[in-house]
Amino acid sequence: MKANSTKIILAIETSCDETAASVLRGDIKSKNPNFEFLSSVVKSQIEIHKKSGGVIPEVAARNHVKNILPVVSTALKQAKLKLENIDYIAVTSGPGLVVSLIVGVEFAKGLSLAANKQMIPTNHMEGHLYSAFGGASRKDKVERIKSVQFPILAMIVSGGHTMLVVMKDYKHYKVIGSTVDDAAGEAFDKVAKLLGLPYPGGPEISKLAEKATLTPPPAGGRRIEFPRPMIYHKNYDFSFSGLKTSVRNFISNHPKTKKADIARAFEDAVVDVLVKKAMRAVDEHKCKTVSLSGGVAANKKLRTTLAKNCKLKTINFIVPDFELCTDNAQMIALAAYFNLRNGYKPVNYNKVKADPSWEIE
Ligand code: KG4
Ligand code: ZN
Repeated sequence: MKANSTKIILAIETSCDETAASVLRGDIKSKNPNFEFLSSVVKSQIEIHKKSGGVIPEVAARNHVKNILPVVSTALKQAKLKLENIDYIAVTSGPGLVVSLIVGVEFAKGLSLAANKQMIPTNHMEGHLYSAFGGASRKDKVERIKSVQFPILAMIVSGGHTMLVVMKDYKHYKVIGSTVDDAAGEAFDKVAKLLGLPYPGGPEISKLAEKATLTPPPAGGRRIEFPRPMIYHKNYDFSFSGLKTSVRNFISNHPKTKKADIARAFEDAVVDVLVKKAMRAVDEHKCKTVSLSGGVAANKKLRTTLAKNCKLKTINFIVPDFELCTDNAQMIALAAYFNLRNGYKPVNYNKVKADPSWEIE
């Protein structure tokens, strides 16, 4: 028997190129967040998209169609549950690629109708945001929840978004900055392409950057240093498209420079801008915790630099485990769980639809 306030959520995520499902059990009335993941399945399409050097939406959608049923049924099996044991069905409804979102959303609506379960349409960015709150092991999770002290400065850096969010508490957040052009992850992917590295470029660039010897360019002069766009602007917006152009120009002007050195200089520039702006926001908003999430949060240099800066200011730093930085359904289950705790009322399936440009407020 489970207590009345214990709820089981089945979450589905198909916003880009990962088909994912997860089951979470959590108490929505407990004083402190109290939850556990009963399963998590992620079917990645990376190998398919590597061939085309990026995600082709229609190809992604067709693969979601192929994968969704086995992924969801495996998640239920791993949780040792049947659909009838689930309380709510959470699904990523946006933002994302519309043709990908539709597959997950319509599948989830079908389950909702068939099993007569209410739904929790969930924002993908909110999922990334909350992913920093849920660690893997129980001990780790408890530690993390304890170190969540408001206000939080949340940095969400993914393939589609770069955002700084101030969270006054679980319910109140405000986006204080975002990208005016390319997202951080997109910049990693595009620069990787310029360097002839496969998709997705982020992990490739960081691996290569570790091999940098930082020799000066062959024609002499200083070590490579790329511009830090908008670093001293008063606002908290970012721009990475000019940085990508600088890298492109540098490669054509210095074709003999080691790729690893270019990768390192690029990574340094991105990390420098992200960290400097985040720490300025921490000061201005008197934040007690910094959370880092989204695919680019898997970048070691960014994680360690932000962690060091937080330590210097004696504030908390939380970041998801590496495998929970990129898209998964645990983060969607977690966001749905926190929303339930904060009074969200689940809805009928006819109220749910894919919204590719759903912004968090
Ligand atoms: O969050 P995510 O899985 O998907 C979106 O919601 O966009 O993020 C994917 C992005 C890709 O651009 C990928 O290159 C980047 O995250 N990424 C990284 C690293 N691992 C993944 N960027 C930098 N360093 C990494 N280690
Ligand atoms: Zn994502």
